[in-house]
Amino acid sequence: MSFDVRDLSVPVLVAPMAGGPSTPELAAAGTNAGGLGFVAAGYLTADVFAERVRAAQRLTSGPLGVNLFVPQPSAGTPAAVAAYAERLAEEARRYGTELGAPRFDDDHWNAKLEVVLDLRPALASFTFGLPTVEERRRLSAAGIATAATVTTPAEARLAADCGVDILVAQGPSAGGHRGTFDPTATPSGQPLDELLAAVTADHAIPVVAAGGLMTATDIRRVRQAGAAAAQLGTAFLLSDEAGSSPVHRAALIDPQFTETAVTKAFSGRYARGLRNRFIVEHEAEAPFGYPEVHYLTSPLRAAAVRAGDPQAVNIWAGTGFRQAGGGSVRDIMDTLIGRD
Ligand SMILES: Cc1cc2nc3c(=O)[nH]c(=O)nc-3n(C[C@H](O)[C@H](O)[C@H](O)COP(=O)(O)O)c2cc1C
Repeated sequence: MSFDVRDLSVPVLVAPMAGGPSTPELAAAGTNAGGLGFVAAGYLTADVFAERVRAAQRLTSGPLGVNLFVPQPSAGTPAAVAAYAERLAEEARRYGTELGAPRFDDDHWNAKLEVVLDLRPALASFTFGLPTVEERRRLSAAGIATAATVTTPAEARLAADCGVDILVAQGPSAGGHRGTFDPTATPSGQPLDELLAAVTADHAIPVVAAGGLMTATDIRRVRQAGAAAAQLGTAFLLSDEAGSSPVHRAALIDPQFTETAVTKAFSGRYARGLRNRFIVEHEAEAPFGYPEVHYLTSPLRAAAVRAGDPQAVNIWAGTGFRQAGGGSVRDIMDTLIGRD
């Protein structure tokens, strides 16, 4: 019997958060608290991804999710990325590093799919697009449920046509990359509650709501509006089990950061993070081109992390970041569902 999100004792998914925050401990803690945790495959090699899934599986006997970035054709041109590199040369000097080589890759898509088929987590979720129908069928045949991140009713229709079991409706307040299928489209600003209403009206499969959900009241609201569960990322960034870097943690509680912004300056694809100097100075000139721009800025961001400087780091966070608290995942979950 394949995983059904409606069977969770706590209707909360600890969002996949690639790039550091997602650890096997975070994933297992989400599941052990009665919700569902994820191993995020993004940016990892297939081998490291497999190790992390196995590590999470050792820490829980409950269901686990995994999350994959769906590769997209390149949206960048070498000339635009090279021009951006020139604009960033001064940043590299400032942090005593070189810019990275802007290369294109598919984040090891095929190898990661094989890892999923081999290790059989309960759920495989996708962002930035969809698996092919054939790939989705292979997962279903292996007893693995599938979920697609959607940001518009049109994307939800494509996902339902692909045959996924769950839709994750991601609203504009969400932290991290938007799941928008078209990498050059301006991300939809349709409020989460409207998107949720449209998607639940159009489809009979369970819908998970994501984006800006930080409190028990938020979760009750989306559940009453028809969501089977809520997926929260930012609310867990400061948890004990998260692998968020010290710079990320400090910035989230630093009063100098008062708002978030949607930017392509770090990765060439729109994502929401704390509005810092790098975003202010480079957003206007940043080209599309994921993952080329991600690789271009990677050493710069790493150097800024080493220097403890949050002004040139992608501090991904949703609009509700001020409400994120520390403690164990279990404690945060208890608060989120009003459990004593
Ligand atoms: C630091 C960070 C990393 C993220 N990485 C991923 C990822 O690897 N895959 C994914 O599908 N979503 C990712 N997201 C988006 C989450 O799945 C989710 O949509 C979002 O966190 C919900 O909004 P919230 O942060 O306001 O709770 C990330 C979000 C954050 C904050």
